[in-house]
Amino acid sequence: MGEVDPAFIQDPEHRPKLSIIEPEGIPLIDLSPLSSPDSISDPKAIEVLVREIGNACKNWGFFQVINHGVPLEKRKKIDTAARKFFAQPLEEKRKIRRDEKCVVGYYDTEHTKNVRDWKEVFDFLVEEPTLVPSSTEPDDKEETQWFNQWPENPPELREVLEEYSQEVEKLSLKLMGLIALSLGLPEDRFKGYFKDQTSFIRLNHYPPCPSPQLALGVGRHKDGGALTVLSQDEVGGLEVKRKTDGEWIRVRPTPNAYIINVGDIIQVWSNDKYESVEHRVMVNSEKERFSVPFFLNPAHYTEVKPLEELTNKQNPAKYRPYSWGKFLTRRKLSNFKKLKAENIQIYHFRVSDQAS
Ligand code: OGA
Ligand code: NI
Repeated sequence: MGEVDPAFIQDPEHRPKLSIIEPEGIPLIDLSPLSSPDSISDPKAIEVLVREIGNACKNWGFFQVINHGVPLEKRKKIDTAARKFFAQPLEEKRKIRRDEKCVVGYYDTEHTKNVRDWKEVFDFLVEEPTLVPSSTEPDDKEETQWFNQWPENPPELREVLEEYSQEVEKLSLKLMGLIALSLGLPEDRFKGYFKDQTSFIRLNHYPPCPSPQLALGVGRHKDGGALTVLSQDEVGGLEVKRKTDGEWIRVRPTPNAYIINVGDIIQVWSNDKYESVEHRVMVNSEKERFSVPFFLNPAHYTEVKPLEELTNKQNPAKYRPYSWGKFLTRRKLSNFKKLKAENIQIYHFRVSDQAS
């Protein structure tokens, strides 16, 4: 011990700083007006909330929410089941290992930008089956289905996760409603995109790392979907790149809060008004850490492009339309190939800056 495999070692400029900046940090937003019976008689409270959400999306791309309506007891159950699952021997977990045919399940060799992440994960799809394109070929219209893989142990994992996913899904859609309002759109503007969602939930386990100054739990990245709703434990390690100066800011664990971040799809829909922000995860040498992101993703047949209501002559679309399903399948399959080139990214669809 005391040494890490070179595959985990980050280039010097991407290594974490051991002095941590944790100022007042990302905004903390109270969602209680959503559940309060007064909210109908008090539209002011909702208006204030919508403004807060809009500012957080614009200035940070990240925020935390409290009084979000997801019962704490459902989160605790997941926490217990996740600990039981990851505590099993590797050969047990590898029985449900993710591969090219089945893209969800257990995985312990994830790479971000071709450096290995110091973590192990279990992924599961919110819709079963999830409808997706058969291939990454742009002209191939054939569809296929993705199914989940469940471990034998702990036996309750499936039920606990399925129950939990309904709760976070509800929360994520409420947040999409508030985001729509903050962009001056009808509250249900985004709803239709998620009818045949390709959303998934991930259980992340970050074991203690002997060289936390050289490796990362997850390397710097942006989330490719619409919105991420993340539950983290009390250990901490998530860092967000502050938009104003590019500093990495630690997201302080807040009991029973969720961390919300804008994904690439909202960036494109909003024509860059709300940008998806880079983030990464630091590990430490003493404590293991658990986190549970819910990635809200639209139906595979969604053509992602700037919304017409938000573009005009003065503010033309900054992206060409792209197929979410093809984007998603390319991302998933690239996990199983050592790619020299970078993963598919939204800037590949950016309209070049011509005279405007
Ligand atoms: C992710 C992610 C953050 C965390 O899985 O995409 O950014 O705190 N996770 O685990
Ligand atoms: Ni992420």
